[in-house]
Amino acid sequence: MTAFELTRLLPTDHFAQALRSDVRRGLTAPAKWLPPKWFYDKRGSELFEDITRLPEYYPTRAERAILTARAGEIAAASQARTLVELGSGSSEKTRLLLDALRELGTLEDYVPVDVSESALREAGRRLTLDYPGLAVHGVVNDFTASLGLPHEVHSPRLVAFLGGTLGNLAPDERAAFLRALRDELAPGDALLLGTDLVKDPRVLVAAYDDAAGVTAEFDKNVLNVLNRELDADFDPAGFQHRAYWDAEHEWIEMRLRSVKAQRVAIPGVSLTVEFAAGEEMRTEISAKFRQAGVAAELAAAGFRLRHWWTDPEGRFGLSLAEPV
Ligand code: AVJ
Repeated sequence: MTAFELTRLLPTDHFAQALRSDVRRGLTAPAKWLPPKWFYDKRGSELFEDITRLPEYYPTRAERAILTARAGEIAAASQARTLVELGSGSSEKTRLLLDALRELGTLEDYVPVDVSESALREAGRRLTLDYPGLAVHGVVNDFTASLGLPHEVHSPRLVAFLGGTLGNLAPDERAAFLRALRDELAPGDALLLGTDLVKDPRVLVAAYDDAAGVTAEFDKNVLNVLNRELDADFDPAGFQHRAYWDAEHEWIEMRLRSVKAQRVAIPGVSLTVEFAAGEEMRTEISAKFRQAGVAAELAAAGFRLRHWWTDPEGRFGLSLAEPV
């Protein structure tokens, strides 16, 4: 393997087709919704990086604190020769794991998996410079649609799914995703899972509705994506960002609220969509977890929880699990 390789697991028109089918389904539903994965074009990915630096958005810092404290333990427990990272984005926190595995002396391959080819190329370029000898095998994939990890890498593998992104999936989607992941793994492999935890709703809501309005811009960016990709005529100023805590489901819901009655044309899917004044469209759920719930969901998918760590303030949880 050369230092950097890129594999596309999806047909080239996958994302165009998936966007069309999601928009048709979500915007013709009685309660309108869009899946959060469409936030992340170039601008959206930059806005998310800005979010991670906001004073209100604690999850990134809390998870980094856990990784900083535990990377050595994680490396020793996994003995991984390959680090696979799902939703790797900028691969920034990954360095803590790569450093620990390199120190241990087991590291050979890094497999970042992301929907964004540009993010993979950029991360691959920087990592091959900083980690001579490391084989970086980027995989462009939509792991919510199908998994599929490269098999030619060295075992054992440590699969990291960080940031709390599991919480973007609905409970039934989470169960299916964890089960599919379990089926990809072999004895000796391990899963490192980051989950944001239930806490004071005021802290949660502030993290998803920051004072500077960066999350609002991120939320509305999905409208720009639809305008560009589907030739739609959404006016982002005609929508307000909202974040709610759903105490029953224990998740944050982001919504875009139409400030007036309006009609939006979406030629790319041959749709015209009506919004009533005050009507809300759900753009994201971000579930918050408890240790017992994470252990139960992992067990139901065929994993055993081996370690559970939190930051000192108990805001974020990191699990190390193994297939049973
Ligand atoms: C990247 C999915 C972990 O749910 O907290 C941040 C995305 N949305 N602010 C999250 C997000 C609004 C984030 N994840």
